[in-house]
Amino acid sequence: MVEARNSIHGQWSSRWAFVLAATGSAVGLGNIWKFPYITGENGGGAFVLVYLLCIAVVGVPVMMSEIMLGRRGRQSPINTMRTLAREEGRSGGWQILGFSGVLAGFLILSFYSVIAGWALSYVVSAVGGTFTAITAERSGEIFGELVSNPGVQLFWHTLFMGITMFVVARGVREGLERAVRLLMPALFVLLLVLVGYAMNSGGFMQGVHFLFDADFSKITTDGVLIALGHAFFTLSLGMGAIMIYGSYLPENVSITQATFTVAIADTVVALLAGMAIFPIVFANSLEPGAGPGLIFQTLPVAFGAMPGGLFFGTLFFILLVFAAWSSAISIIEPVVAWLVESRGMSRKRASIVSGLITWLLGIATVLSFNLWSELKLFDKTIFDLLDYLTTNIMLPLGGLMIALFAGWAMKNSHSMGELGLKRSGYKIWQILVRYVTPVAILVVFLNKIELI
Ligand code: PHE
Repeated sequence: MVEARNSIHGQWSSRWAFVLAATGSAVGLGNIWKFPYITGENGGGAFVLVYLLCIAVVGVPVMMSEIMLGRRGRQSPINTMRTLAREEGRSGGWQILGFSGVLAGFLILSFYSVIAGWALSYVVSAVGGTFTAITAERSGEIFGELVSNPGVQLFWHTLFMGITMFVVARGVREGLERAVRLLMPALFVLLLVLVGYAMNSGGFMQGVHFLFDADFSKITTDGVLIALGHAFFTLSLGMGAIMIYGSYLPENVSITQATFTVAIADTVVALLAGMAIFPIVFANSLEPGAGPGLIFQTLPVAFGAMPGGLFFGTLFFILLVFAAWSSAISIIEPVVAWLVESRGMSRKRASIVSGLITWLLGIATVLSFNLWSELKLFDKTIFDLLDYLTTNIMLPLGGLMIALFAGWAMKNSHSMGELGLKRSGYKIWQILVRYVTPVAILVVFLNKIELI
């Protein structure tokens, strides 16, 4: 049986609180900003199908495993892995999973905060009426002005890091839980409003075909790797964020049910975002492969033309900020928990230290859109490189280790007790984490390496 360990950082008040927080972590810029733009860059339908497949056969079993490890270890990922490895009589080397998560946390949040800063600045533009009756061309110019200005971006990046670390410093119950209760449902409703608008935009069917007609000639090996990486990114997997949230999970909650709820909510939000954005792209003859600016260039056109657009536009960008906020908190939580546990810092101090480091790193992303835009490594700007390295390499490798540990290194009696599954359900999970997930990740990786 599981021994009663408690997290020194607190516990969620209920199953519902965990589901909300994990959904808050999962649903974020990844769904609304990134999913549409990488789908656009990778040709649409076939990419979406591979992504959905990755969510189902890799994302779901890894999420169950990651929550399970967290709840069993009840500490920051680094210390959880140390404790669990010892308990199972395995090498302390498994801790590397925790360390790579800490590094990924810093790197991911450093660019995530800059993009969230864009969303913050769009709240101000929206409320000021900048988007009223705007043309697609003008909308592109406004976005261009924002990213070419380092000072302005730095300002919003600083503000976003400030509000993130403020909540993190207040801790699990006070800070994290309260922030997500209302916002997730509101965001969902607003996305439905946008899809409703897109239905009448004149480009709806074209958008739907783009998203759901799978033409496999359009997808490359790199596209498959990006779809796999995005499955991890969007579900917050592979770097300890979901593990640490699992460590605050009460003992009596079903991990399987919670996982399905979060994965379905996350996927639905991404698909809704796609269905809101691509019709507008086609109705206005915009470019689906426009890159990271895609939603910032297209959505203002929709808000500018719809009745009540000032209100809906403002609300949308506010909610986008909140979605990013609740994700950002979870990206840095493993780092903060570790600093508290192992470096003896207070929560407040740990938040300040990690926030400052991330803020500094974020400056590189800010500059990669302007002053350093010509600075390229492997043909990628700093922002692209950070995103590629973390999302497509570090997260899948982290996920691979999680699957291997949960599937092979842990005793069956331990994982079965934690997951609380019936025999047949447990078998399916075990086959997935033992064989399907590792093979899928390795095949995608090897294919990719061959190409280089
Ligand atoms: N899942 C978040 C999103 O889609 C991003 C994230 C990545 C959060 C990794 C935590 C860990 O925006």
